[in-house]
Amino acid sequence: MAKITASVYTSHVPAIGAAIDLGKTHEPYWQPLFAGYEPGKKWFKDNKPDVIFLVYNDHATAFSLEMIPTFAIGTAAEYQPADEGWGPRPVPKVQGHPELAAHIAQSVIQQDFDLTIVNKMDVDHGLTVPLSLVCGTPDKDKFEWPCPVIPFAVNVVQYPVPSGRRCFELGKAIRKAIESYDEPLNVQIWGTGGMSHQLQGPRAGLINKAWDNAFLDEMIASPETLANKPHIDYVREAGSEGIELVMWLIARGAMADTAGGKAPKVAHRFYHVPASNTAVGHLILENQ
Ligand code: DHB
Ligand code: FE
Repeated sequence: MAKITASVYTSHVPAIGAAIDLGKTHEPYWQPLFAGYEPGKKWFKDNKPDVIFLVYNDHATAFSLEMIPTFAIGTAAEYQPADEGWGPRPVPKVQGHPELAAHIAQSVIQQDFDLTIVNKMDVDHGLTVPLSLVCGTPDKDKFEWPCPVIPFAVNVVQYPVPSGRRCFELGKAIRKAIESYDEPLNVQIWGTGGMSHQLQGPRAGLINKAWDNAFLDEMIASPETLANKPHIDYVREAGSEGIELVMWLIARGAMADTAGGKAPKVAHRFYHVPASNTAVGHLILENQ
């Protein structure tokens, strides 16, 4: 059977993607941020999965305001990079895993979560920046990501957005779905977006270090309690775009301890302020 071996969490700031693509990672502004991702990159090399189930949000790139799925699973064979602002990043197309994705859709929908099935979509910085940060930059001669990725898009842009509790319970259903797939695949689940940031209005630039670090503590030790945090707390304390953090709860809900297993081991934790307008957080939890 397939198994979820670990969960990885990271912010997705588009300026980080631009810094990588424009060769600025050693500049004084960026160096401390990229240094904090080195242990995670090393961990990933030593713990390469067969598939990544990547929870992220689209920023009106694949889905415009004409159509806003709350939860959308990518069942395609491949996804092209696309982006607003800087334009599509010069990164490889993302290979999907249609068989596992279709199985997860079947299982999760039968567990009463209504997913939108997406057979064609482009993926923006919400998905490609986490891949660059953790997998590194693909070689020019072998221009591909290290493994297939199942994109799972969550609406955190247009209200109403799903609650942390709903995301956490969905994670549990995704774990059951993956671990009932009849092939011995090593699967990682990634939760991305956040941490505190606000890009608009009078509070633009808001960052809340104390709240972010308490969030990281609770992600590790008390996710059940964290799942009860109402979305208004995210917006008040972590800014309007801080709501992206509810996506981390999907990945956390898929860890073994939420179904009676052992508490996960912390393989890496990192926090840095700022990157562009955003506080950056990164966490790697291994199932034991
Ligand atoms: C920034 C952060 C985001 O999450 C995003 O989607 C766009 C911009 C920023 O900090 O600039
Ligand atoms: Fe974002």
